[in-house]
Amino acid sequence: MPVSKEALSSAKEMIDALILEKNCGPIMVRVGWHDSGTFDKNVSGAWPSAGGAVGSIRFDPEITHGANAGLINAIKLLEPIKEANPDVSYADIFQMASARSIELAGGPRIDMKYGRIDSNGPENCSKEGNLPDAEPGSNGMYAGHLRKVFYRMGLNDEEIVALSGAHTFGRAYKNRSGGSSWTENFLIFDNSYYKVIPDESADPELLKLSTDKVVFMDDGFRPFAEKFRDSQDAFFESYAKAHKKLSELGSNFDPSEGISM
Ligand code: HEM
Repeated sequence: MPVSKEALSSAKEMIDALILEKNCGPIMVRVGWHDSGTFDKNVSGAWPSAGGAVGSIRFDPEITHGANAGLINAIKLLEPIKEANPDVSYADIFQMASARSIELAGGPRIDMKYGRIDSNGPENCSKEGNLPDAEPGSNGMYAGHLRKVFYRMGLNDEEIVALSGAHTFGRAYKNRSGGSSWTENFLIFDNSYYKVIPDESADPELLKLSTDKVVFMDDGFRPFAEKFRDSQDAFFESYAKAHKKLSELGSNFDPSEGISM
């Protein structure tokens, strides 16, 4: 039986309260993205073997993949919400927490749908290595790496550049990737990422991964990065569409058309 709108609304209320109380929006965006970003459009086996937004990140071994370091904390924060709303799938809770975090931080409204079915065991976890690496290979490899990873998910150059802008929000942690944020106001979702990345006089403490810098260096990416720098509306429009697409990769909905709220 499909999940009810009442159950989804109850989960949403709890998610909103959690995000506002703990200021934990960025890690929620990351957990949603790392659940869905494993998707491989070339896998033709039965669902959920192609990965994607199926809730498999909650299982060992996927949660212990190097790219997922720290994300167990997001899952722990969401666990009471799943307990209070057992009919809402983990896959929906992860994607709802991500989308609500962006909306509550001033970002665009995302036209989400729900009703995702969960993958139900560790045997359905995605293999390690499907998520992007911040420092892949030697100089000049970055655009190729991003294209390899995101094209495998079925996403294009505009979507790569728009989704990279999620780094306007949140930060990297000292014990892992640095200990600084990409932007000054890292709890606000706006287009400042595209202003800071190409700015050589920006505060040197701010983080710029090689995969961030390449959005202004690669000829295919740069026109989008410049457009998003010059217009927050253009960024929000592309971001909201790309995020929705990302949130539905590999998902199996009940009912098949999903549930809008
Ligand atoms: C383009 C390739 C990407 C690479 C190489 C990358 C890499 C990283 C790294 C290394 C961190 C720091 C993690 C830590 O120290 O805990 C991070 C954080 C983050 N990433 Fe990405 N990322 C990419 C794309 C994305 C996308 C597509 C999204 C969402 C749509 C996203 C959302 C975030 C957020 C919100 C954080 C901050 C998390 C927090 O503050 O807890 N990233 N990313």
